[in-house]
Amino acid sequence: MQNEQQQQHSAPSLSLFISHFNPHNLVSNSLICASIAAATLLLILSFNIKDYVSGISFDRVSSNLNAYYNLRHHVQAPAPQPLPPHFTPPPPPPPLPPPQSLPSHFSPPPSPPPSPTPPPPPPPVPPPQPLPSHFTPPPPPPSPSPPPPSPAPAPQVPIQPMQDEELQRRAREAAANTTEGVTPKVAFLFLTREGLGLRPLWEKFFHGHEGLFSIYVHSSPSYNGSVPESSVFHGRRIPSKEVHWGMFSMVEAERRLLANALFDPSNLRFALLSESAIPLFNFSTIYNYLTNSTKSFVEVYDLASPAGRGRYNRLMYPTVTLRQWRKGSQWFEMDRDLALRVVSDDKYYPVFSEFCHYSCYADEHYLPTVVHITAPEKSCGRSITWADWSKPGPHPASFGRKRVTEGFLNWLRSGSKCEYNGAETSTCFLFARKFMPDALDALLRLAPRVLGF
Ligand SMILES: *[C@@H]1O[C@H](CO)[C@@H](O)[C@H](O)[C@H]1NC(C)=O
Ligand SMILES: *[C@@H]1O[C@H](CO)[C@@H](O)[C@H](O)[C@H]1NC(C)=O
Ligand SMILES: *[C@@H]1O[C@H](CO)[C@@H](O)[C@H](O)[C@H]1NC(C)=O
Ligand SMILES: *[C@@H]1O[C@H](CO)[C@@H](O)[C@H](O)[C@H]1NC(C)=O
Repeated sequence: MQNEQQQQHSAPSLSLFISHFNPHNLVSNSLICASIAAATLLLILSFNIKDYVSGISFDRVSSNLNAYYNLRHHVQAPAPQPLPPHFTPPPPPPPLPPPQSLPSHFSPPPSPPPSPTPPPPPPPVPPPQPLPSHFTPPPPPPSPSPPPPSPAPAPQVPIQPMQDEELQRRAREAAANTTEGVTPKVAFLFLTREGLGLRPLWEKFFHGHEGLFSIYVHSSPSYNGSVPESSVFHGRRIPSKEVHWGMFSMVEAERRLLANALFDPSNLRFALLSESAIPLFNFSTIYNYLTNSTKSFVEVYDLASPAGRGRYNRLMYPTVTLRQWRKGSQWFEMDRDLALRVVSDDKYYPVFSEFCHYSCYADEHYLPTVVHITAPEKSCGRSITWADWSKPGPHPASFGRKRVTEGFLNWLRSGSKCEYNGAETSTCFLFARKFMPDALDALLRLAPRVLGF
């Protein structure tokens, strides 16, 4: 379902975050502290000028620690555009960034169990990564102002059961209908296996914003769980088919979700999410960020390794050439125009459907490749969903109860640098994954103070 060993550009690296908890650090830091404490004691004994000494010694401790931290950070800072292949180093042809040298064996120590007392101070947020300095001046960050009020909250448009073929045709017609004058809605497309373990968090997130969002859920047809009528998720399941990890059926499901969402002319933005995704900001902030964005957020990059170009199937030639082949996270966010292009694509879709199976991983290549070929200017090339790919393997890291802390969430919210509407911003990720259902209580507890809802 996901990229192998991929590191988001300028994404904060988890290992960096974790490294400050590294036992070695603790030992070294304790040694530093102990030495300084001893020196301080000596000074106190020698000169007996308590106030003077305590001031100086604390300055020295903190400046030592800062220097140590800066050194470590510098050594371990990920390259701006690291895309580490874990099979073989990339062959020469394309100008690709060098492989990243992250320790492959770091093991984050468990954080203390949640307690009612405020958590320990968050770890230092990695300083901004160097950026090309050609950005235009001060960013207008996503406006915190509340979204335009909708007089009478429009209910979500009911789901209409229909077969894929008719769905595509009707969606194309519906998408061509004017969207002028509508109050924009954001369509949240949940691609899940079974139930939504974090549903209470999402319900809290959506609460009070009726009329500004639509929900669509694609889950396994064999899943028979139910959702209470009071929930915004009630009745939002679309007619679904079985989906297999990494197979083309994943792309079919994504297109099914888009086609359903296009029926509501108010849906102007479309975000694909998994059952393990969480929102990192409150609804107004995410709504403003998306509805005001000039671009879509589809990750698109070229990777010259077996996990990238190695997945290209020559039988796709000449409709798709190796030079056009691109990779990216499947967790897209796009505007209505791009959604319509995807739903009405009858050139690339059949070729992928026929030739992109198994080791081809269509879900990671179909959309990036089609966007790259047909509308590269429409996407800013990055994903707004964070995931931790710092460990080798086909899946990103998972986060359970013990790893959800205030410091971690704050770092996800603002620990990166990227471009938004032509200006630099530290708000790069609106969603993050993968969070386990047992993280729900911690997330609900931290949401009001940290996530803003
Ligand atoms: C939306 O973006 C434009 C630039 O594209 C900016 O001038 C404006 O202030 C932004 N509005 C909000 C509400 O963020
Ligand atoms: C959402 O968060 C922003 C920024 O933290 C804040 O200014 C705004 O008031 C919040 N909106 C709501 C509806 O709570
Ligand atoms: C397009 O809009 C017209 C007029 O509002 C409506 O009658 C028609 O059903 C719409 N088409 C689709 C496919 O939704
Ligand atoms: C749902 O499916 C499971 C296993 O497939 C079955 O055991 C259970 O009885 C079903 N529940 C309902 C409400 O149909």
